Amino acid sequence: MKSNKLFFKNSKILPIDKFFKNVLYDKKFGYYNSRIPFGEKGDFITSPKISNLFSEIIAIWIVACWESFGKPKNFNIIELGPGDGSLTDVLIRSFKQFPEFNSIKKIFLYEESNYLKKIQKRKISNNKIKWIKNFNEIKKGPIIFFGNEFFDAIPIKQFKRVKNSFYEKYYTLDNNYKIKEIFKKASNTDVKEIKSYKTLRNLNFIEFPKSGFQELLKISQKISKLKGCILMIDYGYFKPNNKNTLQSVMKHKKNNLLKNLGKADVTAHVNFALLNEFFIKNGFKIKNIITQRQFLENMGIIERARILAGKMKFSEQSDLYFRIQRLLSPRYMGELFKVILAYKFETNKIAGFK
Ligand SMILES: C[S@@+](CC[C@H](N)C(=O)[O-])C[C@H]1O[C@@H](n2cnc3c(N)ncnc32)[C@H](O)[C@@H]1O
Repeated sequence: MKSNKLFFKNSKILPIDKFFKNVLYDKKFGYYNSRIPFGEKGDFITSPKISNLFSEIIAIWIVACWESFGKPKNFNIIELGPGDGSLTDVLIRSFKQFPEFNSIKKIFLYEESNYLKKIQKRKISNNKIKWIKNFNEIKKGPIIFFGNEFFDAIPIKQFKRVKNSFYEKYYTLDNNYKIKEIFKKASNTDVKEIKSYKTLRNLNFIEFPKSGFQELLKISQKISKLKGCILMIDYGYFKPNNKNTLQSVMKHKKNNLLKNLGKADVTAHVNFALLNEFFIKNGFKIKNIITQRQFLENMGIIERARILAGKMKFSEQSDLYFRIQRLLSPRYMGELFKVILAYKFETNKIAGFK
C-alpha cells in the first residue's frame, strides 16, 4: 500500500489524468518505463505483434497516400507511440519494395518513454530514423502521422455533471495509504472546453482526453503548415453513454484499476465521435470512421494473405489464418478497433477509405 505514495510524488491529491500519467510514464517507476508490456510474455498484445501483415498493410497504405499526394519530393512519416518498434521495423523492410518512395521518405518516431526508446533503437538500428520530441524539427512537408493504440494510452480526465455544474475526479491517499476517489469543482477552462463539444452534451459522466487533445493540437498545427494527414487506430466506440471506460490489464487478464500500479497497463476506450468533432473544429477533412476489419480488408489483407499462404507449409498457413482472424474477427479486434483518418490535402482520394 505504501507504494501507492510513489505515484502521487509530492502531491496529496491529483486529478486522475496526472495520477495515471505518473503510473504509466514516471521515469523510474512508470509502467512504460520499467518493462516491455507487449506480446505473449507481456501484458497485452497489439496488432503489429499479432502479424507482420498488419504493418505491411500500413506500409502499402503510406506509399499509396504518397502517390495520391502526387509523389512529393519531401515526404515525412511519423509513428506516434511506436511501442517496441515492431511496426516501423516492418515498414523499413517493406519500403525497400518501393525504391522511388524509399529514397525520398523520412521516418520519425515520437515516443514518451525513454525505456521504450532504447528498445526501439535496439530493434531499428537504422541511422536514417530520427526520434523527435518537437515536430518543429520537420520543416518541409507533406507529413503523415500514424499511431496504433497511441491515443488510448494517454491518460484521460473524468467529470460528473450535476444539473449544470461539473466536478472533476481526483485521487488522494487516506492514512493507511489507500487511494480514495473524490470529486472537486471543475476548472472554468475545462468546463468551457467540454461544453464546446456537441458530442459531450447531455452526458452526466464525461471522459475527456485533455492531454490527448494537446498532443493532437500540436499535430494538427503541423499538418496545417505542411499538409498531410493523421491515421489513428484504437479500441473505441462511436456513442458515449456515461460509461467509465478506464481499465487495467496485467498478464492478459483484467486487473483492478488501483492495484499493481506501475505493473499493469491502464487505458481508456477512445470516443471516436469526439475525435471526429475535434478534427472538424481544427479544419480537417474526415473520411468515414471505419472498423479495423474494413480498413484492412479495403487495403487487400485477404488477397495478400492468400499470396503468402501459397508459399507456406500447411502448419504455417493455419498459423497465418489464425492471426488474420484475430485482426479481423468481430469477436477479437476486427470491430472493437476503429480507424479514423483526418487530412488537409487537395485530394480526397485516400487508399483504404471510400
Ligand atoms: C499501447 S502502446 C502501443 C504501442 C505500439 N503502437 C503497438 O501498437 O504495439 C502506446 C505507446 O504510446 C506511447 N505514448 C503514450 N503517450 C505518449 C505521448 N504523449 N507521446 C509519445 N508517445 C506516447 C507509449 O509509450 C507506447 O509506446
